[in-house]
Amino acid sequence: MTFSIRTKLTFWYTSLLAISLILFGLSFFYALSKIYMNRIDREISSVAGLMVHTIVEPPGRLRLPKNFDIILERFFGLRIRGNYIQVLTPDGRVAGRSSTLEGLELPLTESAYRRALDGKRTYETVRTFGVYPVRILTLPVVVKKTGLVAIIQVATSLEGMEEIFHYMIYFFSFGIVLSIIIAGGVGWFLAGKALKPVDEMTRIARRITAERLNQRLPIVKPDDELGRLASTFNEMIARLERSFRQIKQFTADASHELKTPLTVMKGEVEVALKSRADEKELREVLVSILEEIDRMNEVIKGLLTLARTDVEEATIKEPVSLDGIVQERCEQFKKLANTKGLKLNIDIEKDVVVLAEPVRIGQVIYNLVDNAIKYTPRGGSISVTLNKRGRCAILRVSDTGIGIPEEELPYIFDRFYRVDKARTGGSGVGLGLSICKEIINTYGGKIEVESKPNEGTTFTVYLPLAEEHTMKEVD
Ligand SMILES: Nc1ncnc2c1ncn2[C@@H]1O[C@H](COP(=O)(O)OP(=O)(O)O)[C@@H](O)[C@H]1O
Ligand SMILES: [Mg+2]
Repeated sequence: MTFSIRTKLTFWYTSLLAISLILFGLSFFYALSKIYMNRIDREISSVAGLMVHTIVEPPGRLRLPKNFDIILERFFGLRIRGNYIQVLTPDGRVAGRSSTLEGLELPLTESAYRRALDGKRTYETVRTFGVYPVRILTLPVVVKKTGLVAIIQVATSLEGMEEIFHYMIYFFSFGIVLSIIIAGGVGWFLAGKALKPVDEMTRIARRITAERLNQRLPIVKPDDELGRLASTFNEMIARLERSFRQIKQFTADASHELKTPLTVMKGEVEVALKSRADEKELREVLVSILEEIDRMNEVIKGLLTLARTDVEEATIKEPVSLDGIVQERCEQFKKLANTKGLKLNIDIEKDVVVLAEPVRIGQVIYNLVDNAIKYTPRGGSISVTLNKRGRCAILRVSDTGIGIPEEELPYIFDRFYRVDKARTGGSGVGLGLSICKEIINTYGGKIEVESKPNEGTTFTVYLPLAEEHTMKEVD
């Protein structure tokens, strides 16, 4: 069973309060009874002291007049009332008692008697005498020459203290219960007030769905805990909103890219069917359709690559020698560069090992060199360099081609983005660079571009080098 934070807070708060109130009450009672007992002990002790002087005659004999308490009160002003006095002979027999005892006998406990024989006084609280407990002092009267002459017992009733204590226990219990009820109520109210924004946030957060990602939580106090929670939540929704928008955009672009060639093909086929075209014209239509099919094939291939890169976030990483892959890929382009009248310079450092998947890395190099060749006019040159710096492998592909306008640079890595479709006569689908970026990100690297229109473009790829031990495995 789970309880709400509000219930838990109130529970802990009131329990703590109850515990501290009870502890306080207990220590208060303890201290009070100590003080009260001390006072009573002092009083009975002074009565007993006076008694000693009254009943013992100089050579050390017991002289106990009848009604000695009345004499005591008259001549010495001793306060007998409320006290019980009893005098015992050394063997424990009663020799006399005050009229306040009304014929009753004060109990002499075994231990008090033994201590008296040893010459020690004893204070004790006895509950067996009458309705209320009594405090009894048992004091031996010892004279130097004759030894123990008598045992004096002075007692006083604890009736007053008992009454006060009973009254206070009621008072305290009532007070504690009342304060806990009040504190619990106030605590419950305050906890509810403090947690109200959380309820509000829950209510609004529940309304936010994929279709309503533009909603945000209200932030009342940005610097307190709830404010920070709300703004973190808002940032998360903003990121979700961005991703959602990108996915929507991507789906729209992808559909459009696939629909265009279909529309073109449909139009050509319809025209061909309507007209009475001869075989040569029909062949032309078929060639054009083949071109469109190739294009669609390109788009689908690109989309598949991207989808796979998305899914395999942390793809299989193995130590691969980048220099080998770059060398191999560039060899493949040499012939194409030649036929386009371009110079392809290659400068590769040896033993560059990165953690990656060879096919994926090959794709990156293919796309970059392919672009360089595609966007560089006859007579230009392309250079591919690979070297190590620090813990990074740096791959550079630069050309002396048509370049990219500065305002277009931020978008060229977007899916389906192409600077100017007219420039390259329709070849390419605008997925190459986004595939490169996606793959490089997966391997913890980054890609940068520098370009000047009509001067050339340089793409730089940074990839983290594999650690020492993995390099040995490659060797
Ligand atoms: N080396 C380059 N020189 C000039 N423009 C380039 C170069 N590489 C890429 N671009 C521009 O960036 C766009 C995106 O490139 P890419 O994603 O490979 O798509 P595609 O090559 O299919 O057009 C290209 O359409 C082109 O305009
Ligand atoms: Mg390309």
